[in-house]
Amino acid sequence: MGFIPRLPDSAPFSSNQRAWLDGYLAGLLGVEAGSDNPSALSAEPSAGEEPPWHDPTLSLDERLALAEGEPVERVLMAAMAQLDCGQCGYLCRTYAEAIARGDEPSLSRCAPGGRATSRKLKELVGFSGPETHAGVRAVATAPAPVRSPGEHEVGDSLGVAACNSPELVAAIIACLGVPRETPVLSPDGAERPLEQALSEVCEIRRPSDRAIEVLASRALDRDESRVLQAMAEGYPGAGPEDADLLDLLQGYPSARPPLAELISALDPLQPRLYSIASSPKQNGGEIHLAVAAVRYEKRARQRLGVASTFLSDRLVPGEPVRAFVRPAPGFRLPPSPETPIIMIGPGTGVAPFRAFLQERRAIGAPGRNWLVFGNPHRDRDFLFEEELLAYCGDGLLTRFDTAFSRDQESKIYVQHRLLERARELWSWLQDGAHLYVCGDAQRMARDVEAGLAYILGKEGGMEPAAVKAHLARLTAEGRYQKDVY
Ligand SMILES: Cc1cc2nc3c(=O)[nH]c(=O)nc-3n(C[C@H](O)[C@H](O)[C@H](O)COP(=O)(O)OP(=O)(O)OC[C@H]3O[C@@H](n4cnc5c(N)ncnc54)[C@H](O)[C@@H]3O)c2cc1C
Ligand SMILES: NC(=O)c1ccc[n+]([C@@H]2O[C@H](COP(=O)([O-])OP(=O)(O)OC[C@H]3O[C@@H](n4cnc5c(N)ncnc54)[C@H](OP(=O)(O)O)[C@@H]3O)[C@@H](O)[C@H]2O)c1
Repeated sequence: MGFIPRLPDSAPFSSNQRAWLDGYLAGLLGVEAGSDNPSALSAEPSAGEEPPWHDPTLSLDERLALAEGEPVERVLMAAMAQLDCGQCGYLCRTYAEAIARGDEPSLSRCAPGGRATSRKLKELVGFSGPETHAGVRAVATAPAPVRSPGEHEVGDSLGVAACNSPELVAAIIACLGVPRETPVLSPDGAERPLEQALSEVCEIRRPSDRAIEVLASRALDRDESRVLQAMAEGYPGAGPEDADLLDLLQGYPSARPPLAELISALDPLQPRLYSIASSPKQNGGEIHLAVAAVRYEKRARQRLGVASTFLSDRLVPGEPVRAFVRPAPGFRLPPSPETPIIMIGPGTGVAPFRAFLQERRAIGAPGRNWLVFGNPHRDRDFLFEEELLAYCGDGLLTRFDTAFSRDQESKIYVQHRLLERARELWSWLQDGAHLYVCGDAQRMARDVEAGLAYILGKEGGMEPAAVKAHLARLTAEGRYQKDVY
């Protein structure tokens, strides 16, 4: 499979920048322009070195191309979302190894990778065929929580076990036409009343392929059965990829499997992670989060993100929440309080940087702090506005740049601000600054890295290969850290 990376046409760069960056991206992935052999890069990494696909900003196809020809556990790892977020109870590498050994039967634990990852794992496991997987039913078990040390450090995230929307649960129960107290076997093997199982334990926004197969196998109408089977097998266009359980029950009314069969085939509801936005030194036992509520309209119904709307709409003050701290040892302030830091955090990506700033204030760190923040509109999306402007006023923030993308005709993004300050950024890096990026993985982090690469190339007079090596060195030294999702 050949792959030559190119910046998308929409990427906000001039044609000169674009040409340079296309070269850089090709270099980054080890692909010579015109070559179709990305696997040339995929030699066994030396101990401690991250494999080239362990980068959440790469697409699934790009990651798999980089792992082509590797042993099965490494190809399986490339199918994971590469966040090492711990939601599955493992790291990307250890989850892949457990599947390859046959110790882990569930192929749908990678929450950020979603259906694309679970389908690819199914395909790869079917193809490589580890003995233990032949004929094994993918039993969904409750995710093993990542153990929390009890207190957190700045840079860590909070894992939240949320409940599904009660309206969605009620509509599903009404469609099933059974009492809400009906006892059912949940995906974790425990028996619970139906309503509790659907609310607390089952992934109902994205029914598993197995649950869709169960619906297909029990549909009385042959056309409905055929469409559902095609959906379960991932045929493009067979049905809406993003159907929730209610869509399926309403759209395929002849498909009414026995309750126990359907419920136990659903995936377990995974916790979601949120960057902790506060320092324990300033806020004692409190943990602050910045949550973007996921709400959108689809097929004439409002859709709600499970955890983000649980936190923003349904949480009752004073009621306990099931949560754990996910330590992020690779996303930490520099050991020396003197070291300057540059923090690039558009949207909710600003969260850990508020924690960094609070921490640096609390310990009296004299190092310089530069924050670059962006969001659509200044008047409604300026997260932590008052506090950040106060830090700017009292000198905690040495530099503070904002990029409100939709406040003018053409988009302004954080990387535009960096490009405007290219010389200063280079000079901070020369002074030993640590560079941090947090927020959207798929578009932002990749384009920001392209912008950083352009700056290093221009200000440091480096060719793309040297820039790639420079960024790799900064990463290895812990001076370039990303927490992207
Ligand atoms: C390390 C880490 C840190 C994170 N930190 C934060 C943070 O600080 N703040 C924060 O808000 N989030 C953060 N996230 C993201 C967070 O974990 C959740 O993924 C996010 O809140 C959505 O979860 P949900 O349960 O609300 O939505 P879900 O129920 O999981 O639904 C989200 C899904 O809905 C679909 N979707 C969303 N919008 C649309 C649309 N318009 N059209 C069609 N489909 C759509 C997409 O498939 C999307 O994946 C972080 C993630 C990680 C891994
Ligand atoms: N509806 C949803 O699916 C939804 C809702 C909430 C969060 N999320 C996800 O959660 C994460 C964080 O979301 P968020 O609300 O914190 O912020 P976000 O969606 O990442 O947006 C923050 C800012 O980044 C800008 N941006 C968009 N593309 C960019 C690029 N290529 N380079 C640099 N900046 C770019 C956005 O501008 P523009 O938007 O003006 O282009 C906006 O000003 C993302 O992964 C996001 O996809 C998704």
